[in-house]
Amino acid sequence: MGRATTMPPPLMAILVAAAIILTLTLTPSPSAAAFPSTKSSKSPPPPPTTSSSSSSAPATSSTVFPLYGDVYPHGLYFVSMSIGEPPKPYFLDVDTGSDLTWLQCDAPCVSCSPGPHPYYRPEVSKLVACEDPLCEALHLSTTGRHDCEQQQQQCDYEIQYADTGSSLGVLVADAFSLRLANTSLVRPSLAFGCGYDQQFGNPNSPSPTDGVLGLGNGKTGVVSQLKEQGITRNVMGHCLSRKGGGFLFFGDDLVPYSKVTWAPMLRSAFRSHYSPGPATLYFGTRPLGVKQMEVVIDSGSSYTYFGYQPYQALVSALKAELSKKPLKEAVDDPSLPLCWRGRKPFRSPLDLRKYFTTLILNFVNGRRALLEMPPENYLIISKYGNACLGILNGTEVGLNELNVIGDISMQDLMVVYDNEKEQIGWIRAACDRLPRAGTSPL
Ligand SMILES: *[C@@H]1O[C@H](CO)[C@@H](O)[C@H](O)[C@H]1NC(C)=O
Ligand SMILES: *[C@@H]1O[C@H](CO)[C@@H](O)[C@H](O)[C@H]1NC(C)=O
Repeated sequence: MGRATTMPPPLMAILVAAAIILTLTLTPSPSAAAFPSTKSSKSPPPPPTTSSSSSSAPATSSTVFPLYGDVYPHGLYFVSMSIGEPPKPYFLDVDTGSDLTWLQCDAPCVSCSPGPHPYYRPEVSKLVACEDPLCEALHLSTTGRHDCEQQQQQCDYEIQYADTGSSLGVLVADAFSLRLANTSLVRPSLAFGCGYDQQFGNPNSPSPTDGVLGLGNGKTGVVSQLKEQGITRNVMGHCLSRKGGGFLFFGDDLVPYSKVTWAPMLRSAFRSHYSPGPATLYFGTRPLGVKQMEVVIDSGSSYTYFGYQPYQALVSALKAELSKKPLKEAVDDPSLPLCWRGRKPFRSPLDLRKYFTTLILNFVNGRRALLEMPPENYLIISKYGNACLGILNGTEVGLNELNVIGDISMQDLMVVYDNEKEQIGWIRAACDRLPRAGTSPL
C-alpha cells in the first residue's frame, strides 16, 4: 500500500502468507521450439464458449466503476465506493492479491493515517459475530485457526501484506451502494474490516486511500459475497489505462468471452491468489532459459516482481542488448533501481519501442496463452526522462520464487478473473474509455 503522496514505495498489497506457502511442484517444461507466434491475432479460435448471460442460471447483473490513479508517479489504482447508511464515499485501493476489504475506522482509531475522507464509524449493530462463516474464512486465511470463545463474540482480525504493512480491526457488515447494468440500485450488506490499527510506513504521512478493496477469490472477497447474495456472477476484471484511470467491473456482461486469451486458474497453491499457472519467459522470440515461473496476478502491486533466476536473466539480457544502443545506465536516478538515459530525455513510453524488446510470458497450461509485455508494460519514464525498469527484484522483498504481475504489466489490457469457469483471461483494450453499462469496450 503506497502511503506517501509523492514517490510511494512500490506497492505490494499481497498477503505475506503467499510468499511463505510456496510448495508448488514445477511441471516439466514443454519444448520451447513449439513457441507460437507472438501475434495473438493469429491464435486459433478458442473453443466455443456460451456467454453466460444467455444461460438459464438465475438472473444476475453487473456493475462498472471508474478507476483513478496510475503506476507512476502515484503507484496505485483506486475506486470510489459508497458505503454505509446513509452512503458515504471512500477511496479504496483495488487489490486482487488479498480478500479482505477494509476501511480506516474510527473505533476509535489507534493508528490511522490521514486519508481523503473521514474515517468510517462503526455501529455495534453492524458487528459480524465470530461464529459467522465469513469470520471463519477470514481467520483461516490469515492465521490458519478459528476459535470463538463465546457466542456473539466479535470477529477480530489482523492481516499482513508482503510490503510489511498491516491492518488490525474488527469485521463489520454494512451497505454498499451499487448501480447495476440493469439500472437497479442495490444496497447489499457486505462484510469488511473496520481497521483501527494500521502500520504502513510513517503513520503521519497522508494516505491516498481510505482502505483496500479485497478482490481475492476467498469467501470474504467482495465479488464472492456478491455472488453469494445472487447479485453478480463471481467474475470481475479491470482495465488499467496507461494514461491513468480505467475501470473495474463485477459480473460478466462486459466480457468478450470468445476474443479473450484464457489460461486455467490455478487453485489451492496460493490460497486466495490468482494464478494463471506456470509460464516460460521470452525476450522477444528468444527463450531466456529460465525454469518455469510460478506467477500470480496482483492489481495491488504497482510493479512486477521476478524471482531470483528470471530477474537475473532479464537484467543480463537487457544490459547486453542496450550495450549496443545509445543508452547509458542512469545510476543517479533514484526513481527505481535500474534506469537508463537516452541521448534526449524520453517523453512517452512509446519512444522506448526503438530500444527495448517485447517480453513474453507463455502460460503453459493455456492454449497459446501469451502475455505480451511491450516496453511500456515493463518500463516507466521517470520525472528525469529516463527509462526505468518496472520489473523489480522479488528476492529483495522476500517473495522467493514467486513472480508477481503488477499493474505496470496489465496496463491497457482488460484482465478478467473468471471464478465461475476457473480461468484468467486478458485482451488488449482501450482502458481510458469507460464502457456504458451492458456494452463491451472492444
Ligand atoms: C437487476 O439485477 C438484480 C440482481 O440480480 C435484481 O435483483 C434486480 O431485480 C434486477 N433489476 C431489473 C430491473 O431487472
Ligand atoms: C536480487 O536480490 C538478491 C537479494 O538481495 C541478490 O542476491 C541478487 O543479486 C539480486 N539480483 C540482481 C540481478 O541484482
